[in-house]
Amino acid sequence: MPEPVLRPLRWWDLEAVHALEQELFGATAWSPETFWGELAQPNRRYLVAEDDGVVVGYGGVMVTGADADVQTLGVAAAGQGRGTGRRLLQALLGAAVGAGATRTVLEVRADNAAAQALYRSEGFDQIARRPRYYQPGDVDAVIMRATLRPR
Ligand SMILES: CC(C)(COP(=O)(O)OP(=O)(O)OC[C@H]1O[C@@H](n2cnc3c(N)ncnc32)[C@H](O)[C@@H]1OP(=O)(O)O)[C@@H](O)C(=O)NCCC(=O)NCCS
Repeated sequence: MPEPVLRPLRWWDLEAVHALEQELFGATAWSPETFWGELAQPNRRYLVAEDDGVVVGYGGVMVTGADADVQTLGVAAAGQGRGTGRRLLQALLGAAVGAGATRTVLEVRADNAAAQALYRSEGFDQIARRPRYYQPGDVDAVIMRATLRPR
């Protein structure tokens, strides 16, 4: 099966992206307004993964000078485990490097072993933990950091 194609997220993708966001993040899903606000910022880079015209993944990064922050990353449940999350993350980090970033951070739920495994395998290390950061649910946030190098 061909791999999903990665391309910049456009405003007309937001309906599909928001539907995925709700599927993946439930009560903590970003609102459509939050996505619109993100796209309006000049220092954001957002990508989607598209499979035969259907958006099956998305992610975004913020770049401020040398610092990048992975804002979000998600792959439709039915399309997980095919390498799309890793490809999206690598493309986002590549975009951050292209925009001048040399290091990056992100937050991930302490109970999200799959995402943490992905991040660790891409060079991220845990640097802090924020107790009860995710509400509802009282779930801690793990803060991870990586040094970025041109790929
Ligand atoms: C995290 C997520 C984006 C990974 O996307 P994916 O396309 O399934 O990931 P990939 O197939 O590229 O796998 C990359 C790595 O992630 C890790 N991983 C993925 N699924 C995993 C699982 N079920 N258990 C443990 N590790 C897992 C592995 O390290 C894997 O590398 P490997 O295949 O060499 O073992 C996806 O699971 C997802 O959208 N989850 C829900 C939303 C979410 O948690 N987003 C991150 C918020 S910080």
